[in-house]
Order: sequence, then structure tokens, then C-alpha cells
Amino acid sequence: MSKTGTRMNGKVAIVTGAGSSGPGVGTGKAISVLFAREGAHVLLMDINETAVAETMDMIAAEGGSASVFIGDVTRSEDCAMAAEAAMDRYGKLTTLVNNVATPHMADVIDCEEADWDRVLSVNLRSAMLMSKFAIPKMRECGGGSITNISSVVALRGYPAQTAYTAAKGGMVSLTRSWAIDQGRHSIRVNCICPGSLYTPIAVKYFGMTEKERAYRASMNPLGLEGTAWDVAWAAVFLASDEARWISGVTLPVDGGDTVGAPRWGSAPSAMEA
Ligand SMILES: NC(=O)c1ccc[n+]([C@@H]2O[C@H](COP(=O)([O-])OP(=O)(O)OC[C@H]3O[C@@H](n4cnc5c(N)ncnc54)[C@H](O)[C@@H]3O)[C@@H](O)[C@H]2O)c1
Repeated sequence: MSKTGTRMNGKVAIVTGAGSSGPGVGTGKAISVLFAREGAHVLLMDINETAVAETMDMIAAEGGSASVFIGDVTRSEDCAMAAEAAMDRYGKLTTLVNNVATPHMADVIDCEEADWDRVLSVNLRSAMLMSKFAIPKMRECGGGSITNISSVVALRGYPAQTAYTAAKGGMVSLTRSWAIDQGRHSIRVNCICPGSLYTPIAVKYFGMTEKERAYRASMNPLGLEGTAWDVAWAAVFLASDEARWISGVTLPVDGGDTVGAPRWGSAPSAMEA
């Protein structure tokens, strides 16, 4: 399939965590593929060569424009070099998606200090570092947009999420703060909060049998399972000029999960042990 849209023509994007942590499609991969389909040049940043090569292959097979940048978003030098690489390879930088995160489950008593530091570094400090080096380039280029990928755990309580929820809440707060700081530089900053998606990491962590998938789908008002593509379409909109007057927003992409009922239960069969 060749490029299908024009919504991101002229954009040069860095997507962090552009691979997926297993077979299938996570949000970084889906966002990268849709950005390329919509006409952007995409710098695929990831620490895992094999994972990001799969994303590159998908885009290349569709005739899209992308290239790989191997780097660690917790390292300042790597973030600076990624921003430079976008400028060198494509002549500008207009778009950043801070997508990388690692899951971690522990309540406050069980949360080890080393895990707290690691999770905050990968999930939050990384977005600060990437933005710190991308924003000056965007300013040089006349503006752009940043989309931070948070989670519904930032918007409502979930069990055993101490470090992860702290990082994801930080992404929401940074979005508002940066939207104010960068607005006069024509840089929009927005945030997406995905709900429980069917993605490689979910399979790795929760197994995701058919019963579990049905159960999770039953927890949101739409009664539908979300995928990385749902998040990616929201990211396309926020990064495109269609969203030119939208900055500082936090958009849940969650089948309505965060508005409340009918959590826990319109699929009783899926809940039976
Ligand atoms: N999957 C879900 O159900 C879900 C739900 C809510 C929010 N999210 C959020 O969506 C985002 C992506 O999640 P996912 O599950 O699709 O991702 P994933 O785990 O499938 O992929 C993450 C990618 O990031 C890369 N990565 C990890 N550490 C890195 C580092 N230090 N430097 C560079 N790259 C690194 C990995 O190699 C991997 O390719 C995260 O911010 C996550 O919190 C996901």
C-alpha cells in the first residue's frame, strides 16, 4: 500500500519508542506508521534495533518516508543527537511525540526506590530531555507540536501504580505548563491518555486470553477493545494543522472509561473464573 493521506504533508516528526515490545503493534509503531501514511517524514527513535526495524519495514513497504535513530531517551546526549538527526536528514523538525514508557506495578510500600527512579527516568524525565532539545529546533523552523503520551492512570485511581502514575500525572502537568511557555513560539503541546489497549505490552503483562480481552472491553461505556491505532489517529489529528488552535489539552482515548460507569461489568461471562 502506498501513502494514503496528506494530513501531515510537510511535517518532520520524531516518535520516541517507535518500536513495540513484542509481536504486534504498540502506540509508537502505530503513530509512526500513520504519520508516514499521512505524508510526514518520521525519525523512528528507539533503544531496541530489532523492534524499531519492524516499524521501519512496515513504513518502507507502504512507500512512506522514515529512518531509524537508535538512542536511549534517558540519555541527554542521545536526545540532543536525535533532534540534530531530524534536522540533518530532513531539514527541519516540526513534531515530537514523547511516547516511551515502561510499565511498573507496585503500591507505595512495595515500590523500591531504584524502581521509582528508573520509572520516573524512562517515563517522565525522558519527555523533558527530548523536548528540551527538540523545542529550540522547532522554534528555528517556525513552530510545531509536541504530543505527550500519558495514560488514564493519570486521570483516575488505579491499584498499585505508584511510580507509573506519578510519571503519567507529570506528563499531564508538563503539557499544560509547556503549552503556556511555548505558545508564543507557535508550538502546541497536547497530551493523550490511552485506556487499556490490546497491545504487545498488555499481552506480555496480562496474557490477554479471549476472556480477559472481553472483560477489559466490558469495562468501558462503549464496550469496545481499544488498540494502538485508536491512539495513533488521535495523535495524527493533534499533530496536524487541523488542530492549529488546540494546545494544552489532555485527551483520553479510552472508550469513555474515565467518565465512569459501566466499569466492572457488562460482560459477566468474562468475569467468571
Ligand atoms: N499499551 C497500553 O495498553 C497502554 C495504555 C496506556 C498508556 N500507554 C502508553 O503508551 C505508550 C506506549 O506504550 P506501548 O505499550 O505501546 O509501548 P511498547 O512497550 O510496546 O513499546 C515501547 C517502545 O519503547 C522502547 N523503549 C523503551 N525504553 C526506551 C528508552 N529508554 N529509549 C528509547 N526507547 C525505549 C522499547 O524498545 C519499545 O520499542 C507508553 O507511554 C505507555 O505508557 C500504553
